[in-house]
Amino acid sequence: MKPIPPSSCSAQATVIEKRLKREIAKRKATEIKLKERCRDYDALLSGSLLMQEQLRHLSHKVLQAQEEERKRISRELHDEISQILTGITVKLAALKLESTSNSINVKKKIDTTQRLLEKSVATIHRFARELRPAMLDDLGLVPALLAYMKEFGMRTGIRVQFNSVTADKLKTLDSLNRIVIYRVVQEALTNVAKHAKAELITVSINLPPDALNMEINDNGISFNVNRLFVARKQKHLGIIGMRERVEMVGGVFAIESEPDKGTTISIQIPFKHNVA
Ligand SMILES: Nc1ncnc2c1ncn2[C@@H]1O[C@H](COP(=O)(O)OP(=O)(O)OP(=O)(O)O)[C@@H](O)[C@H]1O
Ligand SMILES: [Mg+2]
Repeated sequence: MKPIPPSSCSAQATVIEKRLKREIAKRKATEIKLKERCRDYDALLSGSLLMQEQLRHLSHKVLQAQEEERKRISRELHDEISQILTGITVKLAALKLESTSNSINVKKKIDTTQRLLEKSVATIHRFARELRPAMLDDLGLVPALLAYMKEFGMRTGIRVQFNSVTADKLKTLDSLNRIVIYRVVQEALTNVAKHAKAELITVSINLPPDALNMEINDNGISFNVNRLFVARKQKHLGIIGMRERVEMVGGVFAIESEPDKGTTISIQIPFKHNVA
């Protein structure tokens, strides 16, 4: 083998050195770019987290405003309109007494009108309760749920079983959390009556540390939950609305539906941020 002359050996070393320097410079440039990108991503991430927080704050406000508005309409219906209708019923009763004995036809008409009015008053009371049950603010979550379940059971013929802890901690739930839980029960039970063909609903409330867990199960027919969430045009808003309300107060919403097991809705609401 021919020995490499010393001059060509150092030339080769210089070439390698130059290549190495170029490579190092390239890597350094890539490293700088990577760092810049990381900074950009960090900025984007913190920007989007901030937006998420602002959005949650805004949703909170919307939810509160909606509930305040419902409360106002509910009071107006209950206190104003139903009072007026009751006043008309009383006036009609007086008119019936005053009318002469030969006006049987008039009396019959007054009777029919009175019955219609009584029905309207009952409907308005139910509507006012559904809009915003005063009980929820006056007596708290559990009495309001019990009253709703009782009325639901009588109206639909579906048995509702309620298992709840009776801890004082439940009374410390703030009004927004109370209404979220109440609205979830309202929509879940309405769904069972509308879609499930069930005979029994079980509602359970538990209090693990720092949270409230609620499960609503029915023994009716099941449905495809995944199909509901991937649908592009959403016609059904009940389940999506429940999930949004729960997430707005920092909670977790889950729904499962399986043949022979019916449908189960589970929510978890954290106590720590929301205690009044
Ligand atoms: N408990 C249930 N058992 C069986 N099917 C259910 C149950 N709950 C919901 N579903 C199915 O999921 C669909 C979506 O329910 P969702 O509450 O979102 O909408 P909806 O009740 O149809 O309409 P709305 O927007 O008035 O609530 C229903 O149409 C029904 O097919
Ligand atoms: Mg529904």
